Amino acid sequence: MLVLGIESSCDETALALCGDNGIETSVVSSQADIHALFGGVVPELASREHARLIGPLLDSLLKNACPGKDPWQCIDRIAVTRGPGLLGCLLVGIAFAKALALAHGIPLIGINHLQAHLLAADIENSLLYPALGVLVSGGHTHLYKMHSAVEMDVLGKTIDDAAGEACDKFAKAAGLPYPGGALLDALGKRGRGDAAMFPRPYTHNDNLNFSFSGLKTAGMLWLAKNPDAHFPAGDNPARERLDQAPQPLCDAAASYLLAVAETLCIKAQRAMENFAPRSIVVAGGVAANSVVRREFAKLAERRHIPLFIPRPSLCGDNGAMIAKAGWHAACAGRCHSLTLSAVPRGHPIPEDWILCRDPLPDYSAQP
Ligand code: KG4
Ligand code: ZN
Repeated sequence: MLVLGIESSCDETALALCGDNGIETSVVSSQADIHALFGGVVPELASREHARLIGPLLDSLLKNACPGKDPWQCIDRIAVTRGPGLLGCLLVGIAFAKALALAHGIPLIGINHLQAHLLAADIENSLLYPALGVLVSGGHTHLYKMHSAVEMDVLGKTIDDAAGEACDKFAKAAGLPYPGGALLDALGKRGRGDAAMFPRPYTHNDNLNFSFSGLKTAGMLWLAKNPDAHFPAGDNPARERLDQAPQPLCDAAASYLLAVAETLCIKAQRAMENFAPRSIVVAGGVAANSVVRREFAKLAERRHIPLFIPRPSLCGDNGAMIAKAGWHAACAGRCHSLTLSAVPRGHPIPEDWILCRDPLPDYSAQP
C-alpha cells in the first residue's frame, strides 16, 4: 500500500509518500519567512503560496518515487488534510488531491490534521495502544484517548488560547519575530526556570480542558513591568542575536515554558486517573519544545510507560504525518468520496468515510 500525503492547512506546503515500510520520501516548503513580515499568518497569502508551490513540490516528490515505473501506477491512495485549518489553504490541497484522484482513478482519503500530528510519533516507532495523546500545536491543545491509529476520542481541549499561541504571543510581546515558540525555547535554554514566576492556569478544577489565557496575561504583565527585558531589535536574523538577549528575559522564557509544560502534564496525569494507557504520545509543533519533552519524559517515567514524541522536524506540519495517517486509514479499509469537504478551525470533523474495497469506487459516477 503506497499513500501520497498532502498537507496545506496553514503555512507549510508538504507532501510525502508512505509505503508498508514507512515514509519513502517527503518534501516540505515553509512560508514562515513571508508571514514573519506581517507578525502572523496572512490567510490569503498562505493560500496563494500553496497554489504556487504544490505542483512543483509534487513533481520533485515523484522524481525519485517508484524507480523505473510510472508513479501513478504505484500510488494506491491519495490522502489530504481536510481540517482543521485555514479554509482557503485547505481548499487548495483538497482541490489538488481531488483532481489527482479523478485523473488517475485513485481513491481519496480526507485526514484529520490533529490526529495526523499524533501519528507522526508512529513514523519512527510503533505506538502502543491505548495511548494518551497530547496534541500541542499553534492552534490546538487536545487530550485524546487513542484506541488505535484510526479510533481516537477527545478527552479535553483548550477553551481559549492553544499552548503554541500562548508561546507565540508572549514571544511577540517580548520582541521576537513570528513564529516565536522555537526562539522562546532557545532563550529559555539560556535561562533558569522559576516555578513560582507564572501560574499553572485552569488546573484547580477536576476537568481535562485547558485555558492558557491566564498565563498569557501573566506573561504580558511581566513584560510590561520589565521594559528592559525585551529582545534587542536588529536587522540580522533573530537567531544571530540570541546572545544579546537580556538574562531576565531568558529566565522569564524558561519559567514561562515550564508553566506551559507543567500545565500540560497536570492535565495529562489527571486523564490517566480515568484510564490506564500503555503509552503517552506528545505531538504538534510545541512538542518540539525542550521543556515539554523533558517534563513529559519525567511523567512517563513516573508512570513506567513509554513516551513517544516525534523528532523535532516531524513535530511541526509535514506531509509525512498525513501520508502515515492515510496509510493507517487505507489499511483499515477507509476512504472518502469526491464530495469530501474542507473543515475550518472550530468545526467538528465528520466521520463520513466510506469502506473502500477493490474494485475501486467509480468516481466518474459521483457529482
Ligand atoms: O503543529 P504546528 O506546526 O502548526 C499547527 O498546526 O498549529 O505548530 C506550530 C506551533 C507554533 O505556535 C510554534 O511557535 C510552536 O508550534 N513551536 C514551538 C517550538 N517549535 C514550534 N513552541 C515552543 N517551542 C518550540 N521549540
Ligand atoms: Zn499542525
